[in-house]
Amino acid sequence: MSQEGIKRARGELLKDPGPDGLITRGFLRGSGMSAGAVGTGPVIGIANTWSELNPCNGGLRQLAEQVKKGVIAAGGLPLEFPTISIAEAFTRPSSMYLRNLLAMDTEEMILAAPIDGVVLLGGCDKTIPAQLMGALSAGKPALALAAGPRPLSRWQGEPMTVEHLWPLIDARRSGELDDDGWAELEGCLSCGVGTCNVMGTAVTMAVIAEVLGMSLPGSALLPASSAQRSAVAEETGRAIVARTRAGLAPDAVVTRASLANAFRALCAVGGSTNAVLHLQAISGRLRTPLSMDELRHLSDTTPFLADVRPSGRHFLHDLEIDGAVPALMHRLADLADLEALAGDDRPWKESVQAPPAAPRCLRSVEDPAGPAGPLALLSGSLAPSGAVLKRSAADPRLCRHTGRAVVFDGVDDLHARIDDPELAVDADSVLVLRGAGPVGGPGMPEVGHLPIPAKLRRRGVTDMVRVSDARMSGTASGTVVLHVAPEAAAGGPLALVRDGDLIELDTEQNRIDLLVPPDELARRAAGWVPVTVEARGYERLYRHHVQQADLGCDFDFLRGPR
Ligand code: FES
Repeated sequence: MSQEGIKRARGELLKDPGPDGLITRGFLRGSGMSAGAVGTGPVIGIANTWSELNPCNGGLRQLAEQVKKGVIAAGGLPLEFPTISIAEAFTRPSSMYLRNLLAMDTEEMILAAPIDGVVLLGGCDKTIPAQLMGALSAGKPALALAAGPRPLSRWQGEPMTVEHLWPLIDARRSGELDDDGWAELEGCLSCGVGTCNVMGTAVTMAVIAEVLGMSLPGSALLPASSAQRSAVAEETGRAIVARTRAGLAPDAVVTRASLANAFRALCAVGGSTNAVLHLQAISGRLRTPLSMDELRHLSDTTPFLADVRPSGRHFLHDLEIDGAVPALMHRLADLADLEALAGDDRPWKESVQAPPAAPRCLRSVEDPAGPAGPLALLSGSLAPSGAVLKRSAADPRLCRHTGRAVVFDGVDDLHARIDDPELAVDADSVLVLRGAGPVGGPGMPEVGHLPIPAKLRRRGVTDMVRVSDARMSGTASGTVVLHVAPEAAAGGPLALVRDGDLIELDTEQNRIDLLVPPDELARRAAGWVPVTVEARGYERLYRHHVQQADLGCDFDFLRGPR
């Protein structure tokens, strides 16, 4: 291949009369395509994270076929390709550890392939943010299509979502759930392909992709196996051809205005704390990312509107019936910038849709489901670079609380001692987990939702203040301070906490403080020794380059525009 051919990685390669074009067309025709098919229209890649190792994305093969129909109908040539896929349930040490690898895979495949635009098929938590990060940096026109939420399960006669899992696991630990119940739970946990069916990370990220203008309006909440999702897949195929013909690159769509809209939407749906990290990482790919202070202002001025689980009471399909994201954007009209583009390349002001007169769960700004500030972006002496608490899922009585620390050094220590009857802990204690951050985890495993010690649970304690440098599942709840930065493994103040220290949480002031005199902290810091880990391959790359939570845990060399 000539040097010219190496530099050129767009669909025009298929029209090249020289050797590079002949080779490219020849190999495509070898897969059974006709001469007419390979030399016309924009070439649209379909980056597919379907995998048998990712049941949440199990419906993406069928959706890819629908996307192809739309691309062909609009005069384009669809070419599907695989990338790695990341499943929450199966990936160790954590799914977050691999998010940047999928982002790099996506970016490099988009750049390397002779395609003009791309449809990103994702679903399970890390797949959509990774694809958005990669596509934003690659710079070719892109649209995302989410797998969609799976059907509701039933548990002992009642509808069940994945959020019910966490209290049932606690019940098993304390002996309240017997062997028969445990076996029955396994059979009803997941009732079909698709993503978790609450406003957890996957659905939150689908909502965010839609608000960012990176997927079609009205697409985020459609059920995974519905005819409507198939139809929107075909429409996505048509839309990406139009977006590609218009030359609309992702950084013309994802702007500071659309990112601010997306953060407001995250707050308004009481979405996952993980989405804060992902938005920080996506924002970091822009020339002028949003600062922590800007995010704090957005949260503090956005009420909780969508009364859906896990922050609220209703099921996701109630929000879909209320008009889904276009109705949410209608509700946010006075707070959001509706000049920002939607996925159909029109300003959001032309795609919003009024909710019904008597909505099931989508409240108004004047009569919200919860006060402004559903996400508390904290800072203070325990978290100088920031921390996050989902206020809308916390016990209001604990949002201003001072308690004595009970410290666990890593997940193994936590599991070994949390249910020890001799553990010196009471309901006012603050449970602290460290060594579970971006480097210490590695990959910030979702262990920040520390279990309530069994002896307290048996006494009826259902929530306590918990603090860690880890993440938690978007489907979990409680008074849980997450993403403490800098993390303990990086020498943050979390590394210096000792059993019995007083920790003060004040979400009204957005503060988390370690009430230990500075000279005592300085003395402890002088004796702190970092843990060094010899690593090879991807782990080496990861450990050397991952940034802290306040920068979205992106790699330092991927930050900023390409
Ligand atoms: Fe895949 Fe929840 S585990 S979306």
